[in-house]
Amino acid sequence: MNKVWIIVLLLLFITPGSVFSSEFGELTAICESCHGPDGASPYSDVPIIGGQTEKYLRGSLQSYQVWGRPCVKSAYRTGDTSRPKTDMCKITGGLSEEDMRMLAEHYSSLPWVPAPQSFDASQVDAGAALHQQNCETCHEQGGTADGIGPRLAGQWAPYLKHALKFVPTGEHMVPPLMERKLGDFSEADIAALLNYYASQQN
Ligand code: HEC
Ligand code: HEC
Repeated sequence: MNKVWIIVLLLLFITPGSVFSSEFGELTAICESCHGPDGASPYSDVPIIGGQTEKYLRGSLQSYQVWGRPCVKSAYRTGDTSRPKTDMCKITGGLSEEDMRMLAEHYSSLPWVPAPQSFDASQVDAGAALHQQNCETCHEQGGTADGIGPRLAGQWAPYLKHALKFVPTGEHMVPPLMERKLGDFSEADIAALLNYYASQQN
């Protein structure tokens, strides 16, 4: 047997399926020990996933699995919080295609619960105008709707800010048009946009 086959066989034993082969409910319990009940995250650095689009959820899980996004370490927030920190790349490393399909279907079917966060009301109009000019094509209806890009309205601003930080480094891959538009923005513009998304709490 050549080396390649030995590696393939080893991978079959140690990867996907085996880690999370148990019931779907056990799987979502793992997700929700960070993303909160029904994916409506109460933690400002953990994104809300309940009610996000199916395509986006599935795509982002697939992307983490191949390390196409930054693999940021995070602690478990509920359940056994003494479990070592982990990241979305490791978590998706244990998922099969079918797991990811089911997870995306499940979380997209749940209601989107906007984050109850504070914001600077004086920046909302400026943020809305920037959004309309630069972001609306892909993050439709003021960022509330399913479009080419994910829903932004009501997402935790600290998480969004952190996600945007990785765009110039190429670690969080976004369409070139979005990258170009963001490249022209000042910190103040980004702050205005984030205040706009944070203000959308209905
Ligand atoms: C240990 C905590 C933790 C667990 C467990 C966890 N996540 Fe995450 N997840 C995060 C954090 C933190 C982020 C944001 C990563 C970052 O900062 O770049 C994230 C990001 C995501 C994203 C990207 C959302 C977006 O708006 O781009 C999806 C989708 C996701 N997780 C789904 C899941 C699913 C499904 C599970 C269960 C199989 C799960 N997560 C388990 C902490 C966790
Ligand atoms: C050409 C289409 C397009 C345009 C224009 C665009 N985006 Fe995006 N955006 C996307 C796509 C697609 C993604 C998802 C990338 C991925 O798969 O992770 C995304 C992701 C994001 C994310 C990460 C969300 C998350 O949950 O992790 C933020 C924040 C964001 N966009 C903000 C903006 C802002 C602000 C603007 C306007 C300045 C903008 N986008 C313009 C297509 C676009």
